[in-house]
Amino acid sequence: MEKLWGGRFQKQTHQLVDAFTSSIAFDQELALVDIAGSRAHVNMLAAAGIISDEDRTILRDGLDQLAAKAAAGEIAWDTSHEDIHMNVEYHLTKLVGPVGGRLHTARSRNDQVALDMHLYTREAVDMVMEKIRVVQKALVAVAENHIDTVLPGYTHLQRAQPVSLAHHLLAYAWMLQRDWERFRDGRARVNICPLGAGALAGTTFPIDRRHTAAELGFDDVYANSMDAVSDRDFVIEFLAAASILIMHMSRLSEELVLWSSEEFHFIELDDAFCTGSSIMPQKKNPDVAELLRGKTGRVYGHLLAVLTVLKGLPMTYNKDMQEDKEGLFDTVKTLSGALDLLAPMLETMRVNGQAMEKAVAEDYACAVDLADYLVRQGMPFREAHGIVGRLVFHCIKEGCYLHQLPLSTYQEHSELFGEDLYQCIEPKAAVQNRVSEGSTGREALRQQLDRLKEKMG
Ligand code: ARG
Repeated sequence: MEKLWGGRFQKQTHQLVDAFTSSIAFDQELALVDIAGSRAHVNMLAAAGIISDEDRTILRDGLDQLAAKAAAGEIAWDTSHEDIHMNVEYHLTKLVGPVGGRLHTARSRNDQVALDMHLYTREAVDMVMEKIRVVQKALVAVAENHIDTVLPGYTHLQRAQPVSLAHHLLAYAWMLQRDWERFRDGRARVNICPLGAGALAGTTFPIDRRHTAAELGFDDVYANSMDAVSDRDFVIEFLAAASILIMHMSRLSEELVLWSSEEFHFIELDDAFCTGSSIMPQKKNPDVAELLRGKTGRVYGHLLAVLTVLKGLPMTYNKDMQEDKEGLFDTVKTLSGALDLLAPMLETMRVNGQAMEKAVAEDYACAVDLADYLVRQGMPFREAHGIVGRLVFHCIKEGCYLHQLPLSTYQEHSELFGEDLYQCIEPKAAVQNRVSEGSTGREALRQQLDRLKEKMG
């Protein structure tokens, strides 16, 4: 078939070249934003007197018909037209006749594809931000049900100090808050319109770039036409924010996997979010959480891929940039699927508060509270640390826990110990005694929840 740019050529391209350079197999994902961009372009061309109102009506009606068909999946994208832009022009021309050939006036595929990528990424940012909120709300809901559920907080994956389960879960809600803000901040740089840059140098036609930008909901237009067609920073920023987001989701998933193991037994994931084994009839595996953890690899990979594609490119558009698409599309689908699953998985998990309490009780998690007790009696912290350390060593030797030692043993180590020490090593009390801002105590938790909810709007 005759190429849209065939005029200068004496020969057909080699069929291997067509297969290698074609992007229609994946950039058809851009069909609707491409058509929306063309629609705004046509309106602007008419408003600026570059095409007639009559032609505008024909072109716009044709584009609207194409959009409806594309949305319904009714267009057979033709591999003999290398990309979505050429396909749309080809199908439009088939529909409306030679007027279709006016569509590309004062435009290049370079500013067109940049526009499509901005529109696609903007939609993706909005989708991700909305879905982050849903997961945050699920975390807050579970947290609010478990303000008084106590479990060991860990450092080095060793039991460290008792915390409220709400506090633990809200740590993830805050990570997601930063993710949400990162996408929002990046959106400002996505929402700038490159259309009108032409191939790289602008155009001889009296176009009105602000007209198209406003119609498409952009906040501004690129000030430099060369920057406009060669910039993919917004894609990289999206992939970077996506990488951090999926890293957070992966960490949460890792906790769910650990906690649902027999060894921890802190939670049970709902059957609906687990799968079985083909050989071991007893198994119930946390596959969703595992796979979510595993999906980080591809997202990081996409970020690295686009960074690498861009790193050596001279000004301005280079065909290399076609490689910005599949990774972005895959990232958007991966994030969407992962975010959709997290909320219901959290909302349906069963929390085994007893196992959590047992883990705190059969431990030395309140050793700091004991040292703080001595400090309140006037002892320097370092000295208190030493005494409690020796008490813990004594317990380990005797095979018991701190709350099981008689007062006389305590007093052998320090005269400052009194009967009231037992209250401060009771795990629930130890949690409630944490009064500092941002801590796990009930009052501090209330304030934290208020702060988070205010941010979440
Ligand atoms: N398919 C191309 C891409 O995705 C569109 C732009 C092509 N421009 C060009 N001058 N060959 O980057």
